[in-house]
Amino acid sequence: MPLTIINANVLNEDGQLELKTITIENGLIKQLADASTGLAPESGEIIDAGGKLVTPGFIDMHVHLREPGFEHKETIATGSLSAAKGGFTTIACMPNTRPVTDDPETVKLVLQKAEEAGLVNVLPYAAITVNELGRELTDFAALKEAGAIGFTDDGVGVQSAQMMKDAMKQAAALGMPVIAHCEDNSLVEGAPVAEGEFARRHGLKGIPNESEAIHVGRDILLAEATGVHYHVCHVSTEQSIRLIRQAKEIGIGVTAEVCPHHLLLSDEDIPGLDANWKMNPPLRSPRDVEACIAAIEDGTIDIIVTDHAPHSEEEKAKGMQLAPFGIVGFETAFPLLYTKFVETGRWTLAKLVQRMTADPARVFGLGSGKLAEGAPADLTIVDLKTEKTVDPATFASKGRNTPFAGWSLKGWPVATITGGRVVWAEENLLN
Ligand code: DOR
Ligand code: ZN
Ligand code: ZN
Repeated sequence: MPLTIINANVLNEDGQLELKTITIENGLIKQLADASTGLAPESGEIIDAGGKLVTPGFIDMHVHLREPGFEHKETIATGSLSAAKGGFTTIACMPNTRPVTDDPETVKLVLQKAEEAGLVNVLPYAAITVNELGRELTDFAALKEAGAIGFTDDGVGVQSAQMMKDAMKQAAALGMPVIAHCEDNSLVEGAPVAEGEFARRHGLKGIPNESEAIHVGRDILLAEATGVHYHVCHVSTEQSIRLIRQAKEIGIGVTAEVCPHHLLLSDEDIPGLDANWKMNPPLRSPRDVEACIAAIEDGTIDIIVTDHAPHSEEEKAKGMQLAPFGIVGFETAFPLLYTKFVETGRWTLAKLVQRMTADPARVFGLGSGKLAEGAPADLTIVDLKTEKTVDPATFASKGRNTPFAGWSLKGWPVATITGGRVVWAEENLLN
């Protein structure tokens, strides 16, 4: 059935807002017309956006959906709904499931479950090594054939340079990207938080910045040697950024991502031994936070991702040392960034939206991420005015593990449209 969105405030190419009428048919944007000249629809459903912002659906290239194997933390269905509620229409899920997504059957299972959930586009990554153990490469060609969009051992770093080089050679031959969780285990050894003031005060071992940057530097050299598209996960240190900036300057095929929490929080903000503040990479120094912000501003870091990593309350209650790393991200990402960077005047709205739509589409060669005639009708309607408090009890995700509970934010998604279908909406919007 055709769908028309009237009174949609849309960002134009100059980053200005314009009132538009958006006509959707067969899952595609059929027409984007000035609200004054747009024809009243003859048939189908009408949504009155009432002057709210309408953007391309957000794209999150780094998420954990936990299925198969850890369904008590999240399922593909609950994760998809949480994503939709956060305004995301495309998400790329990490292979550190149980079994690990390291064979074609598991890739197909993930795609099938995503199809059954039917809410957002789910793009599966496959593991670089069997079981993510770093010992033996997976069958890249078969995984690509099954539908994997890239290779990563996210959750752990690939410790052997030779293994990484072989992976990059194979991925390059297939025209596929390698996505890297950068962490040298020999420098980490069970530390739960970043090296620094917080670790010292609480007598905890610290994760040093070099544990990330050493892998970034190593992999940039390997990417140069192999010609692969190398994408750096969740950049969190000044040193990694310096290396990525240099690599880009000399034309090496590297791209990078950063998470909202690494743009908004430092280790100095951690209130105490609460594992809702524990994630990997950890919250670093204010200096690193400032470097991350500067890097997403100047394009050294290309995109923003959530690293949505749900865990159960029991697991997170084990304390800073023993609880697993990770925080949920879908349902707070846009309001956090809008409130803290756009409302404050540091970023334009257009820049924030670009880093969550057009840029991930460009980096990973997706057809979505733009609001244009003929593009997929993946759209998000956002209320930029209403202020609400983050309440984990209202999350669609099974995970409640967030350090942002109680934050008062604006910029809440109110409806999400994937492939021309309304997959989630605030109750009062559609009637
Ligand atoms: O915080 C994290 N959580 N970092 C990771 O690398 C893995 C992830 C998870 O799977 O929970
Ligand atoms: Zn990771
Ligand atoms: Zn991750």
